[in-house]
Amino acid sequence: MIAGAKKPYVAHLNTALKLGKPRADAPLALDLFAGCGGLALGFEVAGFRTLGFEMDADASRTYAKNLHGECRQIFLEPGLNLADGADIIIGGPPCQPFSVGGLQEGSKDRRDGFPVFLDAVRRYRPKLALFENVRGMLYANRPYFEQIVGRLESLGYIVEERLLNAVHYGAPQRRERLVVAAHKGGWEFPKAENFGYTAGDALGDLLKSLPENPKFLTASMDTYVAKYERASKCVRPRDLHLDESSRTVTCRNLNGATGDMLRVKLADGRRRRLTVREGARLQSFPDWFKFEGAEGSQFNQVGNAVPPLMARALGLAAMRYLALADDERPAPKRSGRQLTLLEHA
Ligand SMILES: C[S@@+](CC[C@H](N)C(=O)[O-])C[C@H]1O[C@@H](n2cnc3c(N)ncnc32)[C@H](O)[C@@H]1O
Repeated sequence: MIAGAKKPYVAHLNTALKLGKPRADAPLALDLFAGCGGLALGFEVAGFRTLGFEMDADASRTYAKNLHGECRQIFLEPGLNLADGADIIIGGPPCQPFSVGGLQEGSKDRRDGFPVFLDAVRRYRPKLALFENVRGMLYANRPYFEQIVGRLESLGYIVEERLLNAVHYGAPQRRERLVVAAHKGGWEFPKAENFGYTAGDALGDLLKSLPENPKFLTASMDTYVAKYERASKCVRPRDLHLDESSRTVTCRNLNGATGDMLRVKLADGRRRRLTVREGARLQSFPDWFKFEGAEGSQFNQVGNAVPPLMARALGLAAMRYLALADDERPAPKRSGRQLTLLEHA
């Protein structure tokens, strides 16, 4: 995408994620496990009305305060009445049951959100159902993933999955996510582009002065980090490298005093943890998007979110898909699923 000078990152965010009021007749997206609304922001920018469902009070408030859509604070279980009239259902069921950093108990993990997602698709029969999760779903839990796909197929959908990376949609972060679309023909994943934004592009102005209450690493934390890096055979220190895109932002590395934490090295050699706003910039939230709750809760909301720029690309793809007339929908490709596991270049 970049020919010549690229637009300054903050200006890029403000333009790409400018949020106008949705039209009253805009298609409706139900957003399950909505978090603070990273996914919903992208879909609202793409022209959808959204209605979120989320159990966490702070995240629900963040969604409702920043987006046009309502967010219902609710513990989702199969069988609940959600809302009629949905054109599409989107969502990010909790990834802990599938994350390679966890026990990967999949369907046996009580946090598994797929029964809820599938139940909603079965009841409301949207034109498109789209979910995102971690790559780990394709490993130890591959049989469960195939069951989920089979269930969607039995409901009459064509199912395609792809690993997308947020860096290809304009975020200054390498964040890979498995995205699965259950559709009726004619769905196209958004094209990957080379935006080239770095962590330095995203944070530059914020690093010129110290934030309020900066959290410097103490000497014992420095020692712990050094030990962690030796033990994990890190070739480069895991400080944020401002000349490249950031590694994946997570709840854990924003929140935690662990070897993995995201931190910047200052000119005087001290290292400090990122602020909520810095984490949000790396996730491609515009500065007008404000998070509710205590700092730890805000870090979780940021770390859990789908980067809004990647969500916008998916939202625009969903709009193009909905705009197809039924007779324009290509017949299902029999080999579609095998082909789509290739990562975008
Ligand atoms: C991966 S995050 C979703 C992030 C969101 N898609 C975004 O882009 O901001 C998963 C969310 O599901 C919520 N959650 C988990 N189990 C839930 C349940 N049974 N009912 C409602 N929300 C739930 C969590 O609180 C968390 O905010």
